[in-house]
Amino acid sequence: MTVERIGDRRQDGMSETGMSDTGMSRDAPSGRAAPIDASPTRMSSPRKLHVKSYGCQMNVYDSHRMADLLATEGFVETGSPEEADLIILNTCHIREKAAEKVYSELGRMRKLCQAAARDGRRVTVAVAGCVAQAEGEEIIRRAPVVDLVVGPQSYHRLPALLARATRDGRAVDTEFPAEDKFDFLAPPSREAIRGRGVASFITVQEGCDKFCTFCVVPYTRGAEVSRPVDRILGEVERLAASGVREVTLIGQNVNAYHGQGPDGTMWTLGRLLRRSAEIPGIARLRYTTSHPRDIDASLVAAHRDVAALMPLLHLPVQSGSDRILAAMNRRHTAADYLAAVGRMRAARPDLALSSDFIVGFPGETEEDFRETLRIVDEVGFCSAFSFKYSPRPGTPAAIRADQVPEIVKTERLRRLQAAIEHHQKAFNAGCLGATFDVLLEKPGRHPGQLVGRSPYLQPVQVMAPPSLIGEVVAVTVTRVGPNSLHGTRAASADHARSAEPVSTAAGA
Ligand code: 5AD
Ligand code: SF4
Repeated sequence: MTVERIGDRRQDGMSETGMSDTGMSRDAPSGRAAPIDASPTRMSSPRKLHVKSYGCQMNVYDSHRMADLLATEGFVETGSPEEADLIILNTCHIREKAAEKVYSELGRMRKLCQAAARDGRRVTVAVAGCVAQAEGEEIIRRAPVVDLVVGPQSYHRLPALLARATRDGRAVDTEFPAEDKFDFLAPPSREAIRGRGVASFITVQEGCDKFCTFCVVPYTRGAEVSRPVDRILGEVERLAASGVREVTLIGQNVNAYHGQGPDGTMWTLGRLLRRSAEIPGIARLRYTTSHPRDIDASLVAAHRDVAALMPLLHLPVQSGSDRILAAMNRRHTAADYLAAVGRMRAARPDLALSSDFIVGFPGETEEDFRETLRIVDEVGFCSAFSFKYSPRPGTPAAIRADQVPEIVKTERLRRLQAAIEHHQKAFNAGCLGATFDVLLEKPGRHPGQLVGRSPYLQPVQVMAPPSLIGEVVAVTVTRVGPNSLHGTRAASADHARSAEPVSTAAGA
């Protein structure tokens, strides 16, 4: 599987170019050679699957689950789209730039299918994810190379959809089915888990009921749904048994989690984290993405009591202006946000905060924007993702008349990113000389080196033998580089101070 991250903490929104041209018209030749073969038994060699994932961690998780399901249908994953029989683009619709990337990629897919057709091969192209949900049939009209469109709630139907695409030439499923897809998705094999590394994601909650006026998530992912506790714990146990040491519980609004417990009561995220920490082999827990309104006493207490819960909280604030927060329908003020941060920091004094920001929301004045800069300085975020407001079809803010000119958005984004970078650098500089626990994940840049993650998700380069992959070791930071920390192994960790999350589940 390949992953294309949408959203860069420094650059996203800086280079939006509007509609990209896929080079396809309704009548464009699609490069087809033969009908799709969805039969698992016909091929002598296994059919190959390439999944390209865009956007948030939930898409990465979904891509894994689709690959696990298709493995039971005889598909073997390949990192190379050129040799694939089935290509799935698992798409992101959160901002315009993200959606347009998909159409550019489909332009490349058309050429790839034509090249395969010249060799007598038939490649099936599927579009999954939030663009699939939002645009449905329209994708096939705009990009006839696409055979199959499947929304995020219907992945479990992929084998049937492939068969339907074979029969009818096309298949589209953007329903919100009554059944829960997780009840039908195959668990990953031990080999698949091992191949994905020692840190893993698990979706525990999906969808959102908050309806922020800029956001497509409630429309593309649907209403908030929490998975039952025993399914999640079973999945954590399976991952841990195959060597996973760190689990991140993900959801668009993860701290609104309210899953059915084995005792019949509703469990909160705090309770779920507490129980997950007891699973043998699990050394670290994280969760993302949270909404400030849904921080309850059990989550605060989990940060106080659960040592495995890492001291980094991704808590989007979006704006520092109460006027804009109200217009965004965030249902909290800047003071509410600061109070939530205060409660969390009181419970876990070494907690670092990261966040998401939007600049140039309709009606945002210079004074509103300065309030955003003020909250950046007040909290001192260790890192943050920042975006220019991007009108999304079907959302209330998109039809407001008082859209902010592009040039103003660009200038505000630059100023905001400079402020964020200032705090990030200070935070990272504060790491020098500190000793903290690092989960070693894979070979590093140079021979003999491994790279791992600090409690704050910073990559840490350290000399260590490959046998230590999957171990948590104490590392003293000897150098702070622009993109990673460098250190040497130490006897034991003291405290941890520093941060930079690598990506965020879209939402909250
Ligand atoms: N325009 C710009 N940024 C957006 N985000 C969500 N919707 C939009 C939009 N329409 C950002 C928010 C959210 C993150 C995942 O993406 O900051 O927290
Ligand atoms: Fe829900 Fe987050 Fe989107 Fe708001 S920004 S609607 S909380 S997913």
